[in-house]
Amino acid sequence: MDHFNYQGKDLYAEGLKVSELAQQFGTPLYIYSKATLVRHMNAFKEALKGRESLVCYAVKANSSLAILNLMASMGSGFDIVSEGELRKVLKAGGDAKLCVFSGVGKRESEIAFALKQGIRCINIESVPEVAVISKVAKDLGVVANVAVRVNPNVDAKTHPSISTGLKQNKFGITFELAKEVYKKIAQDPNLNATGIDCHIGSQMTSGAPIVEATEKLLELYQTLKDLGIKIDHIDIGGGLGVTYGDETPPSPYEYMQAVFSKIGDDSLAVYVEPGRAMVANAGILVTKELYIKEQGEKRFCIVDAGMNDLIRPALYNSWMNIIEVTKGEGQKVNCDVVGPVCESDDFLGKDRKLCLKEHDYLAVRGAGAYGFSMASNYNSRLLPCEVMVDGDKVFVIRDRQSYEDLWAHEHLLGV
Ligand code: LLP
Repeated sequence: MDHFNYQGKDLYAEGLKVSELAQQFGTPLYIYSKATLVRHMNAFKEALKGRESLVCYAVKANSSLAILNLMASMGSGFDIVSEGELRKVLKAGGDAKLCVFSGVGKRESEIAFALKQGIRCINIESVPEVAVISKVAKDLGVVANVAVRVNPNVDAKTHPSISTGLKQNKFGITFELAKEVYKKIAQDPNLNATGIDCHIGSQMTSGAPIVEATEKLLELYQTLKDLGIKIDHIDIGGGLGVTYGDETPPSPYEYMQAVFSKIGDDSLAVYVEPGRAMVANAGILVTKELYIKEQGEKRFCIVDAGMNDLIRPALYNSWMNIIEVTKGEGQKVNCDVVGPVCESDDFLGKDRKLCLKEHDYLAVRGAGAYGFSMASNYNSRLLPCEVMVDGDKVFVIRDRQSYEDLWAHEHLLGV
């Protein structure tokens, strides 16, 4: 069920008219549907039912406190990649004991903070990181639970920029090396290997690559078992894709069933780190049409949201659905929907058929993941406002940035 629906000509976010929200809060505006977030979290919980398991929502997809708080209130764990993300999870009421710490470049201070908070597991991404975690744990007098993020060299069949499980990528450790790393960990009194981890890529629209990766992880699990190293979980990372256009990704249930079909051992817990699948289709970005500009063959619809608000189209050439907030009556015309930023790549969509009218609103669908979390102040534009709709109620979950905020932490020379 879609919580962003037309009723007559008007797009609704749950029980509220999107055009009225845009008028009330201004644009660009991120609108999230609470019911969609809840539904997605429940879909993952349902998919994991009956197994030792943990959902670790990947904070990077959308780290707004209200969203983290909602996830935490539903018992979610979190995949974090920085001290900042862990601090936001804690601030939002999340539990470090349900958090896994991924990332290729963890600083010592970040590892120390995570260990002090009682992080559940640190996913090791390189050989030198082993010694750093060991030293930090020793200094703190704790034993660090760790997993090795292996690079299974599996093609996630997704956009090259968001593919991470091939040997040319910077992520993870090869299988050959991983075995040696586990042996090293086993001899280290400051470390305790609890898991095997991987994350092969994002926006996967088939279960096949993760099944292939799982099979490889299980081989390693067996090898380690034979060496007397007992692992209690495998972490299959995130990566389940969503429908932006005509993609037909598996449901969380189908995806997890495919993984479970390979894992005979019921005592082996399975962790999963969904980001996009949890939040993408729970959010839209609403923008106002400022100018319709016609030049020769080309027609541009210049809107007030740009790559600073939503960078996915500019960065990855991602196709995101753009719809009219109030269905127009005129003829649909071909256009490029472009932002106000001074870059040729500043577009939200090219070659779209829309009914255009200056000062009307458009909405970009699927904007809940890697939308606000990748927003910037480029061109000294203000970070947008975020609201969450719950039935017929709306909550501002982040104020629009103010101009004062823009220079709040800057200093003139000698002052
Ligand atoms: N776990 C790890 C270790 C990750 O690196 C990621 C995403 C996830 C989980 C969550 O993956 P998801 O379920 O969202 O696919 N900015 C790009 C996506 C980058 C993904 C980075 N890692 C985009 O907008 O498409």
